[in-house]
Amino acid sequence: MKAIIPAAGHGTRFFPASKVIPKELLPVGRKPAIQWIVEEALEAGVDEVIIVTSPEKSLLRRYFTEEPIWYERLQNKAEAKAALEEVDLLSKRIRFVEQAEQLGLGHAVLQAAPLLKGEDEPILILLGDALVLSSTPCACEMAEISRENNGASVVGLEQVPDEKVSRYGIVAGKKLENPNVLKLTGLIEKPSLEEAPSNLAIAGRYLLHPRIFKLLENTHAGHGGEIQLTDAISSLLQEIPVLGFQYPGKRYDIGNPQGYLETLNAFAGSKS
Ligand code: UTP
Repeated sequence: MKAIIPAAGHGTRFFPASKVIPKELLPVGRKPAIQWIVEEALEAGVDEVIIVTSPEKSLLRRYFTEEPIWYERLQNKAEAKAALEEVDLLSKRIRFVEQAEQLGLGHAVLQAAPLLKGEDEPILILLGDALVLSSTPCACEMAEISRENNGASVVGLEQVPDEKVSRYGIVAGKKLENPNVLKLTGLIEKPSLEEAPSNLAIAGRYLLHPRIFKLLENTHAGHGGEIQLTDAISSLLQEIPVLGFQYPGKRYDIGNPQGYLETLNAFAGSKS
């Protein structure tokens, strides 16, 4: 299985800090946020991660590039050296692709298509600014649900309060045997409360059939003038089964100062 981590966004909600430091590199414990996400992908059985970055966010590429000088500097610092080795091991599984213009999440995902030609398994997409804290990693559970359902596409869902439905892609669907899994029948990007078919929002994790690339090529700019991944998923579910999985973990958005603080508090009490 392959994964894509879109991490090329401008991160304006975190300006000015994100002018120079990509939000995806903000530390959560001793690791940057994106390292937790790469680890989640690998735990789910991914053998290669493609990070979508931008020319302004070259630090992301640098973080995942081995720099032998550090091994000299850390000769007598066993703990730091072990942590460095961990990152360098991850780096071997990572490739980068650039999104030159920030035309939206769907466009970012599409940039990885040339590296995934011929892929026929669903592709895991993990947003670079969304951490999910959960006893079993969210991506592992999604991969399992896909396997149990003949390789179906799966999107991660989160229940959101009424006042937030207009910020998300909201799904309609039919419950399956597993009460946390729906077969999606429709999807509306950022609906008003009256239009919203449910309170279930697409949130941060996706496992999508590679057909999504063809659909993205034909997706025009939608909400906010951006090429939306959810618009392409709407088309995908007209063609093949797409499931929604209401994951039990809690998602943290490190892309704004308040969300970042909450992430630090949550992770301080758990893994980091
Ligand atoms: P966001 O919706 O948080 O957008 O992207 P953003 O542009 O990064 O941040 P704000 O809204 O200006 O504060 C969710 C994920 O998708 C990536 C981001 O890097 C983030 O990890 N993304 C978004 C891209 O890679 N390219 C885009 O054009 C937009």
